[in-house]
Amino acid sequence: MSTKVTLTYNNISVDLPVITGTENESAVDIAALRSAANLITLDPGYKNTGSCLSTITFLDGDLGILRYRGYAIEELAEKATFLEVAYLLIFGELPNIDQLTKFQNDIKANSFVDEDVKKIIDAFPKAAHPMGVLASLTSALTAFNPSSVNVDSDEDMYKAIAKIMGKFPVLVAWTMRKTQGLPIDYGAKDLDYIENIMKMMFSQPNETYIINKSVKEALNKLLILHADHEQNCSTSTVRIVGSSQAGLFASLSAGISALWGPLHGGANQAVLEMLEAIRLDGGDTEKFLNKAKDKDDPFRLMGFGHRVYKNFDPRARIIKKAADEVLDDLGIDDPVLDIAKALEREALKDPYFVDRKLYPNVDFYSGIIYRSLGIPVQMFTVMFALGRLPGWIAQWREMRKGKEPIGRPRQIYTGPTLRSYIDISKR
Ligand code: SDX
Repeated sequence: MSTKVTLTYNNISVDLPVITGTENESAVDIAALRSAANLITLDPGYKNTGSCLSTITFLDGDLGILRYRGYAIEELAEKATFLEVAYLLIFGELPNIDQLTKFQNDIKANSFVDEDVKKIIDAFPKAAHPMGVLASLTSALTAFNPSSVNVDSDEDMYKAIAKIMGKFPVLVAWTMRKTQGLPIDYGAKDLDYIENIMKMMFSQPNETYIINKSVKEALNKLLILHADHEQNCSTSTVRIVGSSQAGLFASLSAGISALWGPLHGGANQAVLEMLEAIRLDGGDTEKFLNKAKDKDDPFRLMGFGHRVYKNFDPRARIIKKAADEVLDDLGIDDPVLDIAKALEREALKDPYFVDRKLYPNVDFYSGIIYRSLGIPVQMFTVMFALGRLPGWIAQWREMRKGKEPIGRPRQIYTGPTLRSYIDISKR
């Protein structure tokens, strides 16, 4: 395999090295391009541009492959716990029983959130979108944990990771209960990570909370499936914010804001709202597929399409199966699941979607499960963030430990050339 490309421009030839990864993906390293040929590259949306070398997550969009540190997502979703996967993503290996026990205990010991944070939550209007609240609270953690992370100290890094892994679910649960007008629940020492999330989110003030096994398994699977996805929009945001040596909590807060967008993590909320609209409109899926294909109609089939997957998103396959299982276990007959399946069936036969390789993505079925668990639709993207947290941490840690330079893309200027100031009296 060639290890270089030669670019010729204006009678200048420059050899550029080709980098090949462990999965035989190759990239041209253009670091020397500007100094050698006075050229930069242009790639809006970075559709064809790699930002880093990474050992964390591999995905093949053509084959529908997703692996965390070499382990197939299908195996992890079926056999692992979310905390095992979080440890794997962050530290690179599956933990042994002692490592996992220590990780869980250290997280639990760091799960207390300063009571003053409640004053911040109370300052928000009840109708505030939970993603805005969560991004603010995550950034506010910096005020309560001012010491910046010494990334060269494994101990310091580990402490910061245990802190955010412990406090983030509390912020998620407090955010949800704020929107519901429910009193805060502090979880319980004898519960594990997922069980505590469930109790803090779902317990009712005057009832003993009983863990539903089916709900626990569904949540565990959903969080694993959302845990990382290489250089997506929000992860790239976390990396570029961290590259200025901004703190971990500040970088995560920026990632939460990027995830909020309906083209990204906000799609899971948009999918449910779309399915509900179709249901209320009489369930005419063909009508809405035609709207999605109409260039003059801003309507898009939310939960469909992906920047990288040009085949089935492997997570969508797993979540679709889990949706059937969870709704069956809980005895819920949700008509929007049938609408989603009808949309998928019809779209996968429609040349518009087939030619553009538009398949269901991670967001297409996930909201149906969240709704069956009693999670409000505005909280769906918060659940995505809860799952993505270990991936963001892992990617931020990799970038900082790799001493990567501050992210600062170039541009091609197309504005006015030099002109002189004109006094206002003459304009
Ligand atoms: C996530 O990157 C990640 O890894 C993200 C994520 C993660 O885990 O972090 O996987 C999570 O964000 C999943 C994606 C969730 N978003 C949605 O479901 C929103 C709906 N999907 C689209 O908006 C779109 O598919 C994107 C944003 C996901 C991808 O857009 P691209 O890669 O920029 O593709 P494009 O917009 O250029 O579309 C190519 C063509 C266009 O038609 P033509 O101009 O070629 O005629 O496909 C069409 C688009 O109009 N198209 C759609 C469509 N998605 C693309 N048409 C109708 N409905 C859609 N959903």
